[in-house]
Amino acid sequence: MDRREAIRRAMMGSAGLALAPYASGMIQPEQQLDFTAADFGDDFLWGAATAAYQIEGAWNVDGKGPSIWDTFTHKRGNVQNNENGDVSCDFYHSYPSDIGLIKQMNMDVFRFSTAWTRVLPNGIGQVNQKGLDFYHRVIDSCLEQGAQPWLTLYHWDLPQALEDKGGWQNRDVINWFEEYVDLITRTYGDKVKNWMVMNEQASFTIVGYMLGMHAPGKMWPKNFLPTCHHSTMCQADGGRIIRANVPDANVGTTFSCSPIDPVNEKKRHDKTTRRFDALVNRLYIEPPQGLGYPMEDLPMLRKMEKYILDGDMKRVEFDFDFYGLQNYSRMVTKSNGIIPWMAGNPIAPKNLKPRPEITEMKWEVHPEGIYDMLKYFDKYEKIDKIIVTENGCAFPDVVEGDFVHDKQRKKFYQDYLRQVLRAKREGVNVAGYFAWSLLDNFEWAEGYHPRFGLVHVDFETQKRTIKDSGLWFQEFLSEG
Ligand code: BGC
Repeated sequence: MDRREAIRRAMMGSAGLALAPYASGMIQPEQQLDFTAADFGDDFLWGAATAAYQIEGAWNVDGKGPSIWDTFTHKRGNVQNNENGDVSCDFYHSYPSDIGLIKQMNMDVFRFSTAWTRVLPNGIGQVNQKGLDFYHRVIDSCLEQGAQPWLTLYHWDLPQALEDKGGWQNRDVINWFEEYVDLITRTYGDKVKNWMVMNEQASFTIVGYMLGMHAPGKMWPKNFLPTCHHSTMCQADGGRIIRANVPDANVGTTFSCSPIDPVNEKKRHDKTTRRFDALVNRLYIEPPQGLGYPMEDLPMLRKMEKYILDGDMKRVEFDFDFYGLQNYSRMVTKSNGIIPWMAGNPIAPKNLKPRPEITEMKWEVHPEGIYDMLKYFDKYEKIDKIIVTENGCAFPDVVEGDFVHDKQRKKFYQDYLRQVLRAKREGVNVAGYFAWSLLDNFEWAEGYHPRFGLVHVDFETQKRTIKDSGLWFQEFLSEG
C-alpha cells in the first residue's frame, strides 16, 4: 500500500469515519496545546473561506462576462509574473470534491462568493441561467455533504460592463448592486441562510481606487471617495434586500481591520495613529452603526461630502446580525505622517526590534492583534455578534511525497486561535472562525506565489493535498 493510500484509509477508516493521521501515528503531534475546540463551545462555527475570482477559473465559460479582475489581469504588468485567474484552482469543475475537503477537516462552514458576471454577464439586464445553475450545484453540493453554505455577495469582481459606465464612482452603482443582490437572494434564499454583503470594503476601495494596485487600478482620493461612499450605501441596501427576500436570514458583512500600534507607545493618541485608525478601521465599521464617517480624524473625508445626498447617512445604517472580522496582522506607525502602506508595505516590520516573524506577504505575525480587534469591535454598542470570517497566512510549504509540511502555518493558527479564545473568555461574543483559505489560490496582485491554503494545490495537475495545518484542524475539531 503506498503512503497516499495509507493516509486515505487512515483518514476515512473502514466505516467511513474520520480517523486522523495523527491518531494513526503517521504524523507526530507536537507539544500539547493548552486549549481544545470544546473550549470554544458546542455552537461555535468552524469553517474555511474562499472567493470566486480566486478559485473558480472558467473565466469565460458558459456565458460568464468579464469582470474588472479579468481585464486587470489580462493587462501585462499588473500582477506578479503576469498571472491571472483564468484557470486558477478550476473550482468551477472540481467543486464537489473541494467542498468535501471542508468536511474532511471536520469543519462546518464553506464560505464562498458568487461572481456577479457569471449570473449577470453585463452586470445588469440579461440573466445567465447557466451561471445561476452553477451556484445551485455548489449550494446543493454543500447541503448534500453537510457543509453550511455562507455566501458573500461581493468579493471585488465588479462587472467590466459597469466599470465602463463609471463603476463604483457612478452613483447608479447603487441600483446595479440592488438588481444583482435581489437576483441572488431570490434565487438561493430558500437554501442559503447565512449571508455577507461585502468582503472588506476597505481593501477594495483603498487598494483598487486609491493606490491603484488592485483592479481597476485607479488612484487618488477623487476615485476613492465616491467609491467609498457608494459602497457604504450598497452595503446597507444589500443587507435590507437580504432581509426582505430571505426568511430567517443571518445577515452580515465583513471588514478587514488592523490594530494601529505606534512604534513609540507614547504616541498612541496622536494625530498619525488616529488618522490611520480612521482610514483603516473606523471609516467602514462606523457608518452602518449610525456613527457617520470619521471626518475629524481624517480631514480628507470632507471632500466626500459632495457625494453625500440628503438622507444618505440614514440609509447607510443597517443592523447587521453579525460583523465579520478579518485580521491578518497589525499596522505599526511612525509619527512622521508617512504612510508606510503607500510604499507597498502596510506593516513596516523593519521598524520593530527584535524583528518579528514575517509572512510571505511581508506581514508581521502578531497573534495579539486579533484579540485587540475583537475587543475593539466589542466596544461598539451596536455590534452584538462577531464572526472571524478570515484569518490566515502565506508561508512556503515543504512538499514531500504525499505530505505537505507547513509548520509555520499550523503554529500561526494555534497562536491566533488562542487569542480568539482569550477574547471569548473575556466575554466577547465571537461565534465562529473561518480560516483563509481552503485552497492555495490566486492571491490578487501577488499571483500564485503566496500560498494561503489549508489544502495545497498543484496548479499543473490540479492535485489537492491537505497540508499538515489542515490535518491539524481535522484532529483538533474531531475532539470538539
Ligand atoms: C481578502 C482575500 C485575500 C486575503 C489575503 C483578504 O483581505 O479577503 O481575498 O486573499 O486577504 O491577502
